[in-house]
Parts: sequence; C-alpha cells; structure tokens
Amino acid sequence: MRVALLMGGVSREREISLRSGERVKKALEKLGYEYTVFDVKEDFLKEVDQLKSFDVVFNVLHGTFGEDGTLQAILDFLGIRYTGSDAFSSMICFDKLATYRFLKDIVEIPDFIEIREFMETSPLGYPCVVKPRREGSSIGVFICESDEEFQHAIKEDLPQYGSVIVQEYIPGREMTVSILETEKGFEVLPILELRPKRRFYDYVAKYTKGETEFILPAPLNPSEERLVKETALKAFVEAGCRGFGRVDGIFSNGRFYFLEINTVPGLTETSDLPASAKAGGIEFEELVEIILKSAFL
Ligand code: DAL
Ligand code: MG
Repeated sequence: MRVALLMGGVSREREISLRSGERVKKALEKLGYEYTVFDVKEDFLKEVDQLKSFDVVFNVLHGTFGEDGTLQAILDFLGIRYTGSDAFSSMICFDKLATYRFLKDIVEIPDFIEIREFMETSPLGYPCVVKPRREGSSIGVFICESDEEFQHAIKEDLPQYGSVIVQEYIPGREMTVSILETEKGFEVLPILELRPKRRFYDYVAKYTKGETEFILPAPLNPSEERLVKETALKAFVEAGCRGFGRVDGIFSNGRFYFLEINTVPGLTETSDLPASAKAGGIEFEELVEIILKSAFL
C-alpha cells in the first residue's frame, strides 16, 4: 500500500502538525509501509494531482485548510481516499459555533454568544472564556475575569478571526475522550483528565513536557464514566465523524459539558490521543495502523 503523508500545512498549528507528522512517519517506517511525505505549504495545489497515485492520504494537517473540510473536499473531488472525517463533518467540527448549533439538543454546552464587533464588557459576565470560532490548540483562547481582560481578548481575536465566541466559564475538571473506528465499530478509549500547571490547558500546557499532569484513566465512578463516554460518543457520531478523533469537555458537579470535537487531533509526544490509546493497550505504531485502516472502512 502506498501512503501519502500530509503534514505541516499553512495554519497556525503548522509546527504541531510537523511534530505529529514526524511521529507518524517513524511509525509508518517501522510498520514497513511505502510512504511519501508531503510538507504542505502555500503552493500545495500544484502537488495535489500527484496524490492520485497513492492508495491513501494519511492526513496530519491540523487547523485551517487541513482539518476544516477544505482538503477533504479537494480529495473527494479527486476521488482520493483519506484518513479521518469527511468534508462536511470536518467543516462542522472545526467551527465551534457551527458545532454548538449542530449539537445543542444532543449534548450539554456551556452558554455561548457569538460576537462580531468590539464590546466593552462580557455579555455573559465573569469569568468567561473568549475564543475564536475556527482555531485549534487553544490559540486565541482567553479566560477573562474583568472588562480589562475581556477587552484585551477581543482586541486580539476579532481582527484575526472576525467572529469570536464568548462562553460561560465552567469551573471543573478538564477531560478528553479519544475515539477510534475499527471494523468492530467505534472504540472509546480511557478518559484522560488534564491537570495543567498553568491557568488552563493552553498552548504551552499542551506542548511542553511537564506542564500538564495526565490522569489516566480519569478517576470517575462507573456512572460518571458512562456519562462522559456516552456524551463524547454521541457527539462524535451525531457530527458524522469517522476514523479517529477526540472530544473535549469539562466535568463539573456530575455533568459533562461539551466543548469541542477535534477531527485531526494532535499525535505529538505530549498529545492526548496517543496517551489515551496507550492506556487502552494500543502502542503508537498500532494506533497509526488503526487510523490508516479506518480510511478503508
Ligand atoms: N488541535 C490540536 C492539534 C489537538 O486538538 O490536539
Ligand atoms: Mg480543537
């Protein structure tokens, strides 16, 4: 089987994608697959035709163009098989506002408002969360406790993203649920609880060794565990996701608040999905093979 490994990309998560991609590359090497690496940059469209000679695209592009349905739509148009969710699901999941509107009757979501213009004060009071509609790795995410912090966040995000979500801050335990698809169906991996040393699980906490403690599996009683896993799986399935992915949320007072679905979750040394897979008895190479095979389901 010939594999085209796509990594890098042009989003703000490029460096993370390169880190995820390097790891996948080593795994493909060890597994003995024939593969070619494409470091995706601005001129990628010139190379797209070459992908037709491969059996499958292993997509490790995080963020805009790679995770948001754009690449998936191009590959669909060309009839090229790829890992992960299809164009529609990718598009929905990469846009948090679209995700919330899509899943609002299915999962519990902290209150949110979209803003497109500067505001002096948070319409949801404090503390609140300000985040871009379409971004990853917690880039552009702020927790605001005052008008001053809120205005700073809005001034950072609005010019770049045009549309920003203000969301109720839920104090609680941050958890993430990784899901894999195999020929047996969807497999929900052990729940990972994240205890960052920083204010929240931000970019630095995500990608710097030692900045976040992983509690695996998250200490929950059986009914709490069921709630978290069932909520994550429901969201994943309802959004039409395929192959692999990760659902993030907050566990608070016996409830699990949905935050988002990542359709190309990080596969770096410090990333969540590989850690959950390992806790579920799946080493990295096997994980890569499962993701690859899921493209043929
Ligand atoms: N957006 C990053 C890569 C993640 O969800 O892991
Ligand atoms: Mg994300």
